[in-house]
Amino acid sequence: MSERLEDARNVLSVEGLTLDLAGGHAQPRLVDDVTFAVPAGGAVALIGESGCGKTMTAMAVLGLLPAGIRPVAGSVRLGDRELLNRPERELAGIRGREIGTIFQEPMSSLDPTMTVGDQIAESRRLHLGERRGTARSRARELLDRVGIPDAARRLRAYPHELSGGMQQRVMIAAAISCDPRLVIADEPTTALDVTIQAEILGLLRDLQRDSGVAVLLVTHDLGVVADFCEDVVVMYAGHVVERSPVTDLFASARHPYTRALLRSVPAGRAPRTPLDVIPGRVPSAGDFPAGCRFRPRCEYAVDACARTEPVEARLDGGTGGHAARGTRCLRVAAGEIELQEAR
Ligand SMILES: Nc1ncnc2c1ncn2[C@@H]1O[C@H](COP(=O)(O)OP(=O)(O)OP(=O)(O)O)[C@@H](O)[C@H]1O
Ligand SMILES: [Mg+2]
Repeated sequence: MSERLEDARNVLSVEGLTLDLAGGHAQPRLVDDVTFAVPAGGAVALIGESGCGKTMTAMAVLGLLPAGIRPVAGSVRLGDRELLNRPERELAGIRGREIGTIFQEPMSSLDPTMTVGDQIAESRRLHLGERRGTARSRARELLDRVGIPDAARRLRAYPHELSGGMQQRVMIAAAISCDPRLVIADEPTTALDVTIQAEILGLLRDLQRDSGVAVLLVTHDLGVVADFCEDVVVMYAGHVVERSPVTDLFASARHPYTRALLRSVPAGRAPRTPLDVIPGRVPSAGDFPAGCRFRPRCEYAVDACARTEPVEARLDGGTGGHAARGTRCLRVAAGEIELQEAR
């Protein structure tokens, strides 16, 4: 699709990813023809309102789709290795080792019955074959590195003995413990207080810059995107509707949905505002309108938008190592929507 996807520097290449919910007669398509890439050392944001398919896309990459949801087309490559439909045993060896994960709820990922030191050390023993003593001292270094005070003592703490922010730091330490090539962080700070959110994001950004690990960040939060990422992938109702370097997105968003998202964040707003103020709502999977899925909410829609499903059109821009720009809108592709400042 883009030259970027064929680029050997990509750590993750998702191409045409399509996920169906099996069962019953109708098989709603939850994620449809999703294409994007994360370059080595890069940080890419996946954004969009609730229910757009961000988490399902991330779960497909990890081989952790919920029961009943299956890939029916496309590919997910880590470097040049295909991950889609690989055996669970193989994927389990990749998760934790080559792909670290950070989820919204630390307690859903941390084992409540193990000390945090054992959890991190165990991962290094399992994936890297490290000896117990070495793994343990490495675990202490990792806790230090994610800013946990008195790391030697905290190694012996159980997750429930730590605050939410400290638990999230432990999860970050676990995610990077085996020096992965890619970290997938799905709403990593949404469950935290605003002040702690900023600290955790600052930590993630420092780690990313120091270690060069590539990051795919799933978020509702445009403030986070601006601070953290070089490229943005905007999803709407299972589709990617816009792909863009972050600076171009903020300066000149093209897709009407992206423009509406940007406008929904008031200037001088409190940071971390949820993107929930565009009139109307995201249609449910299986209930997508014909033509463009955003049409019922789109201020630019014309009759043709109800008849024709737009495909991604390439735009100019995307130079300097950034992703090519693309947008899934008939009217933008036809040059009918004037470029305007988005905010
Ligand atoms: N376990 C499941 N079984 C069936 N459908 C699901 C399941 N989980 C999510 N879905 C559906 O898949 C679609 C995409 O959901 P997904 O969780 O990927 O959205 P999201 O963009 O991550 O939203 P949020 O911002 O709320 O996390 C939605 O229509 C949702 O209802
Ligand atoms: Mg989600």
